[in-house]
Amino acid sequence: MNRHSLCTWLLAGALSGGLVACTSEEPFPTADEFELLSSLHSPTRTPPADPTNRLENQPAAAALGLRLFKDPLLSGCGTISCQSCHDGEGRTVDTPTAEGCFGQRTGRNPPTVINAAYSTWYMWDGRADRLWNQALLPLLNPVEMASNPAILRARLSEAYAEEYRALFGKTPEEETDDDQLLAHFGKVIAAYERTLVRNDAPFDQDVRRFIAAVEAGTQEKDPAYLGLKTFVRKGQCAACHKGPMLSDEQFHNIGVEDLSEGQRGVAAGADPMLTWAFNSAGPYSDAPIGAESTRLQRLRSDLTEKAGELEGAYKTPTLRNVTLTAPYMHTGEVKTLLDVVELYNKGGEAPGKYAGVVSVTIQPLDLTDEEKQSLVRLLESMTGAP
Ligand code: HEC
Ligand code: HEC
Repeated sequence: MNRHSLCTWLLAGALSGGLVACTSEEPFPTADEFELLSSLHSPTRTPPADPTNRLENQPAAAALGLRLFKDPLLSGCGTISCQSCHDGEGRTVDTPTAEGCFGQRTGRNPPTVINAAYSTWYMWDGRADRLWNQALLPLLNPVEMASNPAILRARLSEAYAEEYRALFGKTPEEETDDDQLLAHFGKVIAAYERTLVRNDAPFDQDVRRFIAAVEAGTQEKDPAYLGLKTFVRKGQCAACHKGPMLSDEQFHNIGVEDLSEGQRGVAAGADPMLTWAFNSAGPYSDAPIGAESTRLQRLRSDLTEKAGELEGAYKTPTLRNVTLTAPYMHTGEVKTLLDVVELYNKGGEAPGKYAGVVSVTIQPLDLTDEEKQSLVRLLESMTGAP
C-alpha cells in the first residue's frame, strides 16, 4: 500500500472510534498510542469473577473438575476426555484439528484452556457465553466425547457420587433433571479451568519498562521499541489484540482461508447460543435474573446491524502463551508465528477463500523483514512463566 492509502485508512480508523491518526512520521507513541500500550500488560492474578457460576471459587469443585477433565469414561466411546484435546504445556494439540470419539476429527483447531476464564465468549464462533456452559458442547458433541446425560449420570454415580453429593446435596442418581446434571458438570469443570492461569510474561516487563522510557523520553533506545511500534502502529495488531489479555473479546474477519461448512463463523454460530437454555441468562445461570441479558442483547443486535462485518468473523484469541499453541487460527492451518505475520502482511487471503469480507483494519502492511522479525519476537515474549 502506498503512503496515501495507508493514511486514508488510518484516518478512517480514527474517525470510527479506532485508535490512531495518520501519524506514521510522528514520534512513537502518540497520546492515543500510549493509552493503548498502557492497556496491554499485567493482567489480574485471578480471572474476573463469573457471577453465573456460584461454584467457581470452591476448591472442592475445582478438585472434582480436574478429575472429570481427565476422565475418558465420561465419553460415549470410553476413550476421550477433555484432556485428550487440551493436553501438553499449551493445553491443546499440535495438529490443525484434534481426534475425538471413534477416530473422528474436529472441524477446528482447539484453543488453549490456559487463561480461558479471562474470556467471556467461547469457541471460535461464540457459541458459548460462559466457561461452564462451554463444557457441555464437547461432552455432547458426537465428534468429540459423544456422551449424553445417562452416561454422565452413570459415570458420576460410579466414581464421584460422594464428591457430587458434598457439592450439590444429592447424589447423581437423585439428580433426575438431566439439564441440571449437565449444568453442574459444567460448573465443576469451569472451577478447575479457572485455576489454569499463566501470565507474567517477559512481554509485561518490556511494556512496563517501555512505558517508563516513554515518560523519560528515551523510548527509541529501548529494545522493545520496534516490536511495540509495529504491533501498535504499522501492524495495527493492537486494534484487536488489546487489553491485558491481548484480545478485545470481539469477532473479526481477518481473511483466514476456510472453505468448510463452518466458514461463516459467528454469523452462524452465535444464533443458537442466544436462545440456548444453558446460556448465561437462562435458568441454570446463578446470576440474578436479567443481569446477563445485556451483553447477549448487544450481540443479538450486532448480528443484524453488523451482519456484514460478522460474516466469516471469529473470536480474537488471546496472544498470551502463543508459542505453546501452534498451529494457529481457527483452522489450525497457519503453522508458525512468522506465517501468521506473513498472512497479516498480505492483508489476509484473497477474497473468495473465506466467507464475507475482511475487517477494515486488515490491509496489506508492507512490513520490512526487520519489522516482521520484531513482531515474531514480540509474540514469543508473550509466553508466561509456568
Ligand atoms: C476431540 C477434541 C476435544 C475434546 C474432547 C474437548 N475439546 Fe475443547 N475444544 C476443542 C476444539 C476443536 C475447540 C474449538 C471448537 C470451535 O470453536 O468450534 C475447543 C474449544 C474449547 C474451549 C474454548 C476456548 C476458547 O477460548 O474459546 C474450551 C474452554 C474447551 N474447549 C474446554 C474443553 C472441555 C472442558 C472439554 C471436556 C468437557 C473439552 N474441551 C473437550 C477440542 C476438544
Ligand atoms: C481486525 C482484528 C485483528 C487485527 C488487526 C489483528 N488480529 Fe490477530 N487475530 C484476530 C482474530 C479474529 C484471530 C482469529 C482469526 C481466525 O482464526 O479466523 C486472530 C489470530 C491471531 C493469531 C493466532 C492465535 C491463535 O491462537 O491461533 C496471532 C498470533 C495473531 N492474531 C497475531 C496478530 C498480529 C501480530 C497482528 C498484527 C500484525 C494481528 N494479529 C492483527 C484479530 C485481529
